[in-house]
Amino acid sequence: MTQPTPVSFSAQDIERFAEHAGRIAVIVDAEGRLDVAGRRVNRLCKGALKRALEAESEDGLKEGSVLTLAWPAGMSARAVDVVCLPRNASETLARRAGGALGKLRGRADLLIASGRLRRVGHLVSGVLLRDYSFDDHKTSATAPAGSVEVMCSDPETTAATAAPHIAVAEGCFFTRDLVNEPANVLTTTEFADRLEQMESLGLQVEVLDEEQLEELGMRTLLAVGQGSDSPSKVVVMQWNGGAEGEAPLALVGKGVVFDTGGISLKPAAGMEDMTMDMGGAGTVAGVMRALALRKAKANVVGLVGLVENMPSGSAIRPGDVVKSMKGDTVEILNTDAEGRLVLCDVMWYAQERFEPAGMIDLATLTGAIIIGLGHENAGVFSNHDDFCRSFLRAADDESEGAWRMPLGQAYDDMLKSPVADMKNIGGRPGGSITAAQYLQRFVRDDMPWIHLDIAGVASLKSETPLAPKGATGWGVRALDRLIADNYETE
Ligand code: BES
Ligand code: MN
Ligand code: ZN
Repeated sequence: MTQPTPVSFSAQDIERFAEHAGRIAVIVDAEGRLDVAGRRVNRLCKGALKRALEAESEDGLKEGSVLTLAWPAGMSARAVDVVCLPRNASETLARRAGGALGKLRGRADLLIASGRLRRVGHLVSGVLLRDYSFDDHKTSATAPAGSVEVMCSDPETTAATAAPHIAVAEGCFFTRDLVNEPANVLTTTEFADRLEQMESLGLQVEVLDEEQLEELGMRTLLAVGQGSDSPSKVVVMQWNGGAEGEAPLALVGKGVVFDTGGISLKPAAGMEDMTMDMGGAGTVAGVMRALALRKAKANVVGLVGLVENMPSGSAIRPGDVVKSMKGDTVEILNTDAEGRLVLCDVMWYAQERFEPAGMIDLATLTGAIIIGLGHENAGVFSNHDDFCRSFLRAADDESEGAWRMPLGQAYDDMLKSPVADMKNIGGRPGGSITAAQYLQRFVRDDMPWIHLDIAGVASLKSETPLAPKGATGWGVRALDRLIADNYETE
């Protein structure tokens, strides 16, 4: 997998600035005041840094922005990056500035003189998150990435505060790799194998095969996968870092490794994007990895339904009626509305087996959520205001866009079927809401539940401040934060 660049922490030593051959980042506040490191660099380059700042800052430097001085005279460095951050910069600002450095870095060694900055962990998080690329299928040799070193006043403490950020970045990279991976490589079996390998991190991982799923009665999930040569699987990942016997939080992910639409075939243009239709499962996997890496003191179980939606002689047809694990029957009117068929069985299983304290499902579920919210926000649906509020706060704290959408009886009524207990589509109006409404039929009345429709945010055609184009890893940080702030003992 793609690993975040290793980061080292050292005591400030301004004597090293003259000889460092990569990039050097120093910090300046919004008034243009340099710290000790900045003054040293300015002296080395004979005042060029100050002159650049003065020219730049006529209307004030923008907090979080970076000013680059290339090939400064008097130094070995290829560039000095001057980061504008007040000592008390917010988490968001520090992370964003880090993102700017991560993008600029390329493959050069980066030395950050963090000076008196307080949120160094967030700065490092930004550097690592933005500094990702998916090169597994490039055969030409890429130059190895250089190092990242942070000079700070207390290297040991800073390293300790940065450690969870680094764990979360690794979880996020795991998600991005899974989402970026083409479907001929990331088959259901390969996906399950990669999850199983996380046992080495202390997670308990079980892979349920088709025979076991049949036994459990997961007929709607199996129906989606029955047209594919890749076997359907459900993977259960448990992290029990919390109090013994305490009910876990359950995370459930849609893992459609490729969505052709099935017999309700999608148009050819853009179908390749459906390699990311396992984004929900990818996010669940990334969160579980992050929790294990940072040894979270919480009980969390992650469950993913892995299937491939293909048209074939054995595929489900529009009009087929199938019984879910819960026992409710579903008239499948559109085989392209497959995600909900996968999720409903896994969600039911999660509740039956684990009696969770709460349940969050994630899915690239509907194109309609992109029409509604674009690529800025995931759709958030919930039956529980407090639970929902905690999630929205966590997402906001981590700068991951999330916007609450409504649920209601009138939407549920749109799922009535003349032949079965429900149909799997509600029509074009409110398509994301009727999809959520379908899922809610598989949520127990007393179960706090959140559904996240991540179709618009899991993978993007353009870069963002914290990710290159492609998979974003949306939700790994928000969910990790939700768990850290609400579920951890101590
Ligand atoms: N995987 C798609 C949703 C999707 C669309 C994800 C675009 C990412 C980007 C989902 O399975 C799907 O096909 N949904 C249909 C539902 C419809 C048939 C009710 C849709 O959105 O068109
Ligand atoms: Mn579909
Ligand atoms: Zn799909």
